[in-house]
Amino acid sequence: MKIIDTVAGLRATVARWKAHGERVALVPTMGNLHTGHLQLVERARKSADRVVVSIFVNPMQFSDGSGDGGDFERYPRTFDADCKKLSVISDQPEVIFAPAVQVMYPAGFEQETRVKVPGISSILCGEFRPGHFVGVATIVAKLFNMVQPDVAVFGEKDYQQLLVIRRFVTDLCFPVEVLGMPTVREKNGLAMSSRNTYLSAHERMHAAMLYQSLQYAKQQIESGESDFAMIQTQAIAQLKEAGFRPEYFEIRRAQDLQMPTDTDEQRVILVAAWLGKARLIDNIMVGNME
Ligand code: PAJ
Repeated sequence: MKIIDTVAGLRATVARWKAHGERVALVPTMGNLHTGHLQLVERARKSADRVVVSIFVNPMQFSDGSGDGGDFERYPRTFDADCKKLSVISDQPEVIFAPAVQVMYPAGFEQETRVKVPGISSILCGEFRPGHFVGVATIVAKLFNMVQPDVAVFGEKDYQQLLVIRRFVTDLCFPVEVLGMPTVREKNGLAMSSRNTYLSAHERMHAAMLYQSLQYAKQQIESGESDFAMIQTQAIAQLKEAGFRPEYFEIRRAQDLQMPTDTDEQRVILVAAWLGKARLIDNIMVGNME
């Protein structure tokens, strides 16, 4: 396993692989790796000969003016532990790409060309974190151009992010296959997340209620409840009562996160809520029973 921190070094390594006709997979991360990330690496290994894991805390996706100021500075950086975790899994990547901010944004990110996916970037999380998905799409597009992967693996935990990425890959004709992987959870159901480190031990147990609220709403829909507005209002009220500060709890159609209609094949219920110092997101899929 090699650690590379320059674009030239990365390109040279990938060029050698490609000269031998090898398939390359990319797993973009911001580090502070947990089992969810490691399962993406495992999946990448199955679909390619060579795997690159990038670790880069991307300032552009934090500069959102959403009131969670300081989130970039306090984001957990655990590079040595991350390398160790990657080196002990049997599916360890060939390369960890860990560039400095100046390598990714040599002109300063304020001056950078940006990738903006309209519509989907400004709803749900995008409404509460303006500019966030522009930062995500821009850095992922840059990583795609640097690594030129055949396949890239992302988590469904960040479902809106996955759709934003799929959208610009289609619109800008990136020759990359985008794979989405199911959310990996703690035993109590809490979706694994780097931001869970902001929770106290007690809050961590309590945070499982977020997933329970999704499961409960899913059950209501599956048992025929069609008043989605009521389900959403009820869930928000319950989360508030339990000490969360919910941003949204929404039932949407899975393909594009627009309002559901009677004919959607699949729907997704999405939630974002603060608990203590952590902003948590989660989602659950629901098939259309009609
Ligand atoms: P990060 O939060 O580090 O997540 C990296 C990848 O791991 C994303 O694709 C995310 O969806 C996935 N992931 C996180 N928690 C997961 C879980 N519990 N189960 C399964 N997959 C999970 O998402 C980002 O970084 C950044 O926005 C990035 C795409 C790297 C761009 O900067």
